[in-house]
Amino acid sequence: MCGRTPLTMHVREARAQDVGALAELATQLGYPSHPEEVLHRLRCVVPERSRVLVAVVDACVVGWVHVSLYPTLVTDGAAQIHGLVVDQKWRDRGIGRALLEAAESWALDRACRTMLVRSNVIRREAHDFYRHLGYQQGKTSVTFAKVLGGEH
Ligand SMILES: CC(C)(COP(=O)(O)OP(=O)(O)OC[C@H]1O[C@@H](n2cnc3c(N)ncnc32)[C@H](O)[C@@H]1OP(=O)(O)O)[C@@H](O)C(=O)NCCC(=O)NCCS
Repeated sequence: MCGRTPLTMHVREARAQDVGALAELATQLGYPSHPEEVLHRLRCVVPERSRVLVAVVDACVVGWVHVSLYPTLVTDGAAQIHGLVVDQKWRDRGIGRALLEAAESWALDRACRTMLVRSNVIRREAHDFYRHLGYQQGKTSVTFAKVLGGEH
């Protein structure tokens, strides 16, 4: 942070009024989105299982993280990051760390002992960020998808 103004930032839960910023940041993350779409998705997030947390500077949303519990038959006490992004103009100011730590704290409060992150192989800088913050690379997977209910 040398030479930069100290940052006054806080992390809180996302609200419906944030959808414009959430959509803009989702677009920066590589998922072009409209605010109406994000509002619908935000409403689909089950509060007991999932959180969207935002970082706020000067009343502006400058980053978000989506975290949820990840219960399966073969794992205990895990949570997963589904997305994490900081506005391009606000990177390298500690905001990504603050969001990730808030997500970890939320998961730890719910008895999770592991946080999982799946990150596209092309996001090398993000991988270094996660490594720097204590994450170790696990197995490599291939993602499959199928369109349901239509012509294939
Ligand atoms: C990855 C991302 C969320 C990081 O957010 P950020 O606010 O720039 O990161 P921070 O400033 O909080 O960095 C936290 C720490 O990680 C380190 N760090 C950040 N990027 C790093 C990198 N590429 N390599 C090594 N360390 C890195 C910082 O030096 C800092 O270290 P310190 O706290 O010990 O001083 C942000 O760059 C981003 O939104 N990238 C594009 C979207 C993306 O790839 N998201 C992840 C999808 S899985």
